Amino acid sequence: MKRQAHHSKPDLNRPQASLSVAAVVEPAALQKSKFGPELDSGLAVGELVDDAALPIELCVVVPTYNERDNVDEVFMRLKRALRGIAFEVVFVDDDSADGTADRVRRIALGDRRVRCIQRLGRRGLASACVEGMLATPAPFIAVMDGDLQHDEACLPRMLELLKRDEADLAIGSRYVAGGGIGDWDSKRASLSRLATRLAHLLLKQEVSDPMSGFFMLRRPVLESTMRKLSALGFKILLDTIASSPRKLRIVEVPFTFRTRWSGESKLDTAALWEFGMLLADKLVGRYVPVRFLSFIAIGTTGVFVHLAILTTAMYVSHGWFTVAQSVATAGAMVFNFWLNNLMTYRDRQLRGRAWFRGLLTFSLACSVGALSNVGVAAFLFANKTQWVAAALAGVLVGAVWNYAITQIYTWGKAPAR
Ligand code: GDD
Ligand code: MN
Repeated sequence: MKRQAHHSKPDLNRPQASLSVAAVVEPAALQKSKFGPELDSGLAVGELVDDAALPIELCVVVPTYNERDNVDEVFMRLKRALRGIAFEVVFVDDDSADGTADRVRRIALGDRRVRCIQRLGRRGLASACVEGMLATPAPFIAVMDGDLQHDEACLPRMLELLKRDEADLAIGSRYVAGGGIGDWDSKRASLSRLATRLAHLLLKQEVSDPMSGFFMLRRPVLESTMRKLSALGFKILLDTIASSPRKLRIVEVPFTFRTRWSGESKLDTAALWEFGMLLADKLVGRYVPVRFLSFIAIGTTGVFVHLAILTTAMYVSHGWFTVAQSVATAGAMVFNFWLNNLMTYRDRQLRGRAWFRGLLTFSLACSVGALSNVGVAAFLFANKTQWVAAALAGVLVGAVWNYAITQIYTWGKAPAR
């Protein structure tokens, strides 16, 4: 038996446990959509909405790198903490060797609220968070670590504060009353405080824990910052606050940093270097690409490596300069390549065979760079430029050349930011 057609007037009298599609979609638009025939058959729009398709309210983005043994527990706790909230979880995995992505997909097979973005050939906590955030339509988006160090029980409070429109951004903070750093050793604790102080250089507003990786924001905050983010390294929250065109309304929710559930931390020396790059990018990135600065800094240390090898080689070869100088040049090149691959381009680090191919293109590019360096310097010198100035100009031209060419041919096609 046919029921009364409701297509001209969607049934808004359904109990509104949560907003139904009928309430957000214009009835006129629906008639033209592919759902048209179904509506003509007499079903109320509201009846087409099943519970699994309730509009998403909150998305939790969880960046992972080798967290296979943590993801089940993360999702279980999220389900418990977020009961009654229409949420989804987006895991963003950088192709972890331990099979984290497979594990996430296995969870997702049993629950559609879970998705996995598996990024190939790229690394980086901040950029992973950005990609996760961009993958969801949810009006509220949280970012939380995948090792259970952050306290998921704070999420409903954060959501409540944002929904009541008391803030644009809610931060899980270790440095407000009631929060804590858990059982960090004194070295990590003082490093974190130092980094926090440095971070304040960038911020126009008071935030007690800008280094936190645990926060929730309303979608417009993402939209107003996403094209300005540096997305370098670990600190996506700091990046977001520093990139915002206007002062954000921020609330901080205390939590105690827990100990890692399983696996190990990915914070290492290279991550500290990336933090320096993020600061530099926010301070001077408008004028110079920060990767260029990193490249130059490493190139400068290469000079010392060169001199050290040269001295040794002179000693070993009993003063055969040409040989010593060649060995030192080769050594410095390998050193520069190795360090740039580790620091400047950590997010697209070359490994295995690609490492050797990279070394080859890097050396070729730098050899041509050396020729242009000498060429420019000789030309300037011949045209009455003072010799130090001519030499420096040569070095600069060589460095720019090396940077520009290796950025494309050694570390990938996309122009680096
Ligand atoms: N996709 C992806 N790519 N995820 C990553 C990467 C990466 O390159 N590096 C780390 N992660 C993931 C980890 O798997 C983990 O889920 C989360 O990011 C945090 O990484 P940890 O290695 O556990 O970081 P931590 O405990 O040292 O640092 C934490 O403390 C900081 C506060 O000092 C993080 O929460 C930071 O976000 C936080 O700012
Ligand atoms: Mn951790």
